[in-house]
Amino acid sequence: MSVLITGGAGYIGSHTCVELINAGYDVVIIDNFSNSSPEAIKRIGKITGREIKCFNCDIRDSKGLEKIFAGNKIDAVIHFAGLKAVGESIHKPLEYYDNNIGGTVTLLESIKKAGCKKIVFSSSATVYGMKNTSPLKEDMPTGGTTNPYGTTKLYIEQILRDLYASDGEWSISLLRYFNPIGAHKSGLIGENPRDIPNNLMPYISQVAVGRLRCLNVFGNDYDTPDGTGIRDYIHVVDLAAGHVKALEKVLGESGISVYNLGTGKGVSVLELIHAFEKVSGKKINYRIAPRRKGDVAVCFADPGKALRELGWKAERDVDEMCEDTWRWQKNNPEGF
Ligand code: NAD
Ligand code: UD1
Repeated sequence: MSVLITGGAGYIGSHTCVELINAGYDVVIIDNFSNSSPEAIKRIGKITGREIKCFNCDIRDSKGLEKIFAGNKIDAVIHFAGLKAVGESIHKPLEYYDNNIGGTVTLLESIKKAGCKKIVFSSSATVYGMKNTSPLKEDMPTGGTTNPYGTTKLYIEQILRDLYASDGEWSISLLRYFNPIGAHKSGLIGENPRDIPNNLMPYISQVAVGRLRCLNVFGNDYDTPDGTGIRDYIHVVDLAAGHVKALEKVLGESGISVYNLGTGKGVSVLELIHAFEKVSGKKINYRIAPRRKGDVAVCFADPGKALRELGWKAERDVDEMCEDTWRWQKNNPEGF
């Protein structure tokens, strides 16, 4: 079986390629390298001992996609490609709508023309908005996103639902990720932010390695045990394994389903800092800063549906997430 991976050079895509190859799938990657490096492709090859087929192609390029579908047998698509910086999306909404929504529509048209009609999509817990109370369940109302990035995920989910309603041959899996962190055990691939990280874990690891001086903890006056925000951090290799399970389902039957991929456990900002300090032996310099706009106090998954229907659950704990992040960051202080 051969799977087209859009955004396969990126953080989650590269780890998923490794898990797919280990599970016996062939992968064909497309990426425009707008937020990644071709070096990631080499590293996937090094980890798996395989030659990796990769095309430098934008998902908005319908002619390029057509050629790739014509020249390669593709049984299903896992669609990671997209822009993901929340703050940037507020300043450049059109870029986000064009790249994420326009790109997805072009990709879906190409998939339809090629006749494979099977797709796993990277959605986000951000579609639950600010009003639901954790643990978040797939049947809770979505909407009320607070930035264009989140809105692109919400709209793409709806586009995929409309597509399935129009043609029941499609097989679609919407995966709502919680907070992926960690890296492959080899230390060869990991998260590689181009600019100053927006997310907590890459910020912590760059402070630890000396690239950044001080972490701002965004608020210590939330209604949580230590006052800092609580999230559901999930090891990226567990997340990748969830894609292998979702792919099996998509290959096996038509339909549309949505799954949370999280651990079901909440961890506070201070708890994550302390876990990282313990495994790395590095002191993380931090200070308490005002709350970040758009943040909720607590966000964690009910991951029960993925266990019941896909037979998947996250296995790795926070210490392992920190250990693997630290190995990647220490071995690659400047990223790829
Ligand atoms: P990433 O930026 O590391 O990977 C995305 C990849 O897509 C990059 O390699 C980038 O170059 C590529 N890309 C972007 N636009 C493209 C285009 N038009 N054509 C071809 N390639 C393009 O991000 P990631 O963290 O690996 O995230 C993967 C997906 O998961 C994204 O859709 C993201 O929104 C979603 N997601 C990520 C998180 C997270 O915390 N990392 C959480 C929820 C959802
Ligand atoms: C953020 C995005 C979300 C996106 C996800 C993955 C916002 C409001 N939400 O989620 O839409 O899907 O990233 O890309 O941006 N924190 C600090 N200091 C920092 C960074 C973060 O204290 O420098 C805190 C935050 O306040 C939060 C926790 O750490 O409590 C996790 O933050 P982050 O890693 O950015 O993830 P989310 O906010 O869950």
